[in-house]
Amino acid sequence: MSYQIAIDGPAGAGKSTVAKAVAEKLGFIYVDTGAMYRAMALYLLRQHIDAADTEKISEASRHADITISYVDGAQQVLLDGENVTNLLRAEEVGNMASASSVNPDVRKKLVELQQKLAARENVVMDGRDIGTCVLPGADVKVYLTASTACRAKRRYDELSAKGKECSLEAVEADIRERDERDMTREVSPLRQAEDAVLVDSSNMTVEEVIDKIISLVPKS
Ligand code: DC
Repeated sequence: MSYQIAIDGPAGAGKSTVAKAVAEKLGFIYVDTGAMYRAMALYLLRQHIDAADTEKISEASRHADITISYVDGAQQVLLDGENVTNLLRAEEVGNMASASSVNPDVRKKLVELQQKLAARENVVMDGRDIGTCVLPGADVKVYLTASTACRAKRRYDELSAKGKECSLEAVEADIRERDERDMTREVSPLRQAEDAVLVDSSNMTVEEVIDKIISLVPKS
């Protein structure tokens, strides 16, 4: 049986940084499920499909071929055979991902892909519904969060470091909007699984969060 660590939480809580590091320390693969929703969003944007057009999104999701591969341990996302990994972090793609991930057909397709990966390999998987839906039997479940102000500041610093012009207020408004949508959607909303350990990273360093999660894995 593969070993499964599920990390869920809102945007900007530091899930991917921490999940990647934990996977590296344990020799597991890191599965970034947000990147799969982003790849689907990129497909929809390229098809000029409106975020509110449920029927077209359902139909399009059947045609998008999304696969995952690993290069030097780093997850690569292929969309119809094209490596789109570097195109997925754009704000526009993130917003479309948040909007289109409410669609049950999109979720069904990507959840199946995630479950197949986790059945074959020891994984650290991060997302919104991993502990509640994708891997309900995961060995370790973490709900990683931080205050909205703190998450906005981190995101703002990240964008500023990349030379992107933005205001802290706009970034915070965007995070609030995304939280609201991710937490109130009908299918698999973001919520803490009953058996997940709550980790609030507002006043923790990245190293402290990594150590906390590793401490939840029994030593073999
Ligand atoms: O983690 P992220 O920002 O890359 O995710 C982008 C969007 O995808 C997020 O707003 C909600 C959605 N998502 C989801 O619904 N379920 C997941 N397991 C991962 C992401």
